[in-house]
Amino acid sequence: MVFDTQERIETISAHGNTLVNCEVKGIERENEIKESEKLASLTISAWTVSDLELIGIGGFSPLVGFMGKTDYEHVVNSMRLEDGTVWSIPITLPVNKKQAEQFEIGQKIALKGEDNVIYGTLLVEEMFTYDKVKEALNVYGTSEEAHPGVKKVYEKGDIYFAGPITLINRPDHGRFSEFYKDPSETRKMFSELGWKTVVGFQTRNPVHRAHEYIQKCALEIVDGLLLNPLVGETKSDDISAEIRMESYQVILDNYYPKNRTELVIYPAAMRYAGPREAILHALVRKNFGCTHFIVGRDHAGVGDFYGTYDAQEIFNQFTKEEIGIEILKFEHAFYCKKCGNMGTAKTCPHDKEHHVHLSGTKVREMLRKGEKPPKEFSRPEVAEVLIKGMQQSN
Ligand code: ADX
Repeated sequence: MVFDTQERIETISAHGNTLVNCEVKGIERENEIKESEKLASLTISAWTVSDLELIGIGGFSPLVGFMGKTDYEHVVNSMRLEDGTVWSIPITLPVNKKQAEQFEIGQKIALKGEDNVIYGTLLVEEMFTYDKVKEALNVYGTSEEAHPGVKKVYEKGDIYFAGPITLINRPDHGRFSEFYKDPSETRKMFSELGWKTVVGFQTRNPVHRAHEYIQKCALEIVDGLLLNPLVGETKSDDISAEIRMESYQVILDNYYPKNRTELVIYPAAMRYAGPREAILHALVRKNFGCTHFIVGRDHAGVGDFYGTYDAQEIFNQFTKEEIGIEILKFEHAFYCKKCGNMGTAKTCPHDKEHHVHLSGTKVREMLRKGEKPPKEFSRPEVAEVLIKGMQQSN
């Protein structure tokens, strides 16, 4: 079930050229629901539900299901699918051995969330074991369990189920529903807004001044900004999506031109895979219709696992055509007290002592105590929302 994106928009092609649609609607959906209720079911985690949704709505185009062994190994070894298409992170369905014994190859199974909702079905084409340490080393660049993405790999089931999926029910995004759009909807929105060039911005943090600076630098050269925060699973010490969403609305209302910025959620889980995740993030935003994508300092990084610009350099391994979305690379941005504005080493000649720098840990600590970070670091309206939110969640 794929359709030619060129029929829908004149601008950017989806990754692999066709925007995938594995979702059933109307009568077809009614029939699929009835059938799925009679099928044997497998309970999948919230993370896997989000992957299922992204495959179904075309966010992960050209994938039409969970990866089989050949694609999986190609991706782990060389960041490409078997057919050569660039893909950097395995999208897999882990199952533990005991559960796996209940199913067989060729069977169609219902995929149930922990909330008992059947989100879709899978035609099990393959079941295969995999090397967790190799996946950790190749995808995350480390086998250390201290890395939150690696920890997840070690905790996952030992067998991957693979095959094409059908999406029956999209997860309920609750309070974020008004900010939810699938790739065909964002593409339509961009075209209605008359945006021919759109920069996508991935974030799992509140928008601080450095984010704002690089977004606005980009806005100087493109028609619109898609602020596309990740709201799926994140590690426990990241600021919750609920609090962040409020902070995004406040900063957009106060500091961004209304006709040039749109806020849409990205309902994926955070892998913290640094460079490889930067590629995934870019390809997915291409599927949502963005023409440009920002990669700043330590994109999708965690702790000291990656070099500051690793996530930018990884793109040098591919041609521009293979990636198909323009990567806007920004150096580490900061407020310089001597310049009296934001900048980077490319634009500011002053020593570090003049730069306002605060670590994420330090900022979270201040917010928890009800202290506002300096206005050079965070807009006061944003700080207020974060303080209120964090105090309420304590
Ligand atoms: S991420 O894990 O989602 O990448 P974060 O929300 O912190 O984390 O970053 C969003 C984007 O802003 C990423 O592209 C990141 O590289 C970039 N970024 C964050 N802080 C800075 C900074 N001080 N200077 C330049 N780029 C930054």
